[in-house]
Amino acid sequence: MNFKIKKILNKKNKSKIVCLTAYSKNIAEIIDKHVDIVLVGDSLGSVLYDFKTTRKVNLKMMIEHTKSVRVGVTKSLLVIDLPYNTYRNKSEALRNSKIALKNTKCDAVKIEGGTRVKEIVRHLVKNKIPVLGHIGITPQTTKGKFKSKGKNEIEKRKLIKDAHALEQSGAFGIVLECVYGDISKKITKLVKIPTIGIGASIHCDGQVLVTDDILGLTNAKIKFVKKYIDIKKLINTAVIKFKHEVKTGKYPTKKYSY
Ligand code: KIV
Repeated sequence: MNFKIKKILNKKNKSKIVCLTAYSKNIAEIIDKHVDIVLVGDSLGSVLYDFKTTRKVNLKMMIEHTKSVRVGVTKSLLVIDLPYNTYRNKSEALRNSKIALKNTKCDAVKIEGGTRVKEIVRHLVKNKIPVLGHIGITPQTTKGKFKSKGKNEIEKRKLIKDAHALEQSGAFGIVLECVYGDISKKITKLVKIPTIGIGASIHCDGQVLVTDDILGLTNAKIKFVKKYIDIKKLINTAVIKFKHEVKTGKYPTKKYSY
């Protein structure tokens, strides 16, 4: 087993797993020093391309972004999201996972779904492709408004069943997206593999967020998003200063000229 995956598995019940997204080298290089997992999420569709849905993201886009991220990631586990319609059956999933891993040198793939994809996960793992699962809100297959999961008994039972299916199929971890705290807690206790929450409470084994959201680069107004810095403001300040210096002839001085 990949030693980076072993490290993630060993963190269960010992230390919280930290995961952030990256879509290019410069951000990847910064976060790699501090996180356990760097995820090239198909959220890049909405964050970078203004797509209304992640369904418009394709494998070529994911590979190009992951190649760039790979340059900046040396320490963390690098995971690529398999986009919509690239893992509809076992052979398609294996073919596209192999293409993704070969072209990007990433460590693992993430796919959405629980019981529905259990045979696909099993097939990938059998063929030495490490898989991170993703249940709760699964944006690729959600039509209409996103609604948090696990409010009623039917949803709770489904989430538990899905988590068990992923564990039994050999996934090394499960992302829980927008899952109520009591059920995240239950799943985290029931499965031996780590759970990584996004809007799924403190009870998960780790947390993931979209880096652009925590930096304030997006205008995300989502309950679970915490903005840790207003990078837009800092960029604005730098750009205004540059503009002013160009207009007034203060830049470039001799120091910046040949
Ligand atoms: O696409 C993505 O970035 C994700 C995470 C937010 C979990 O799936």
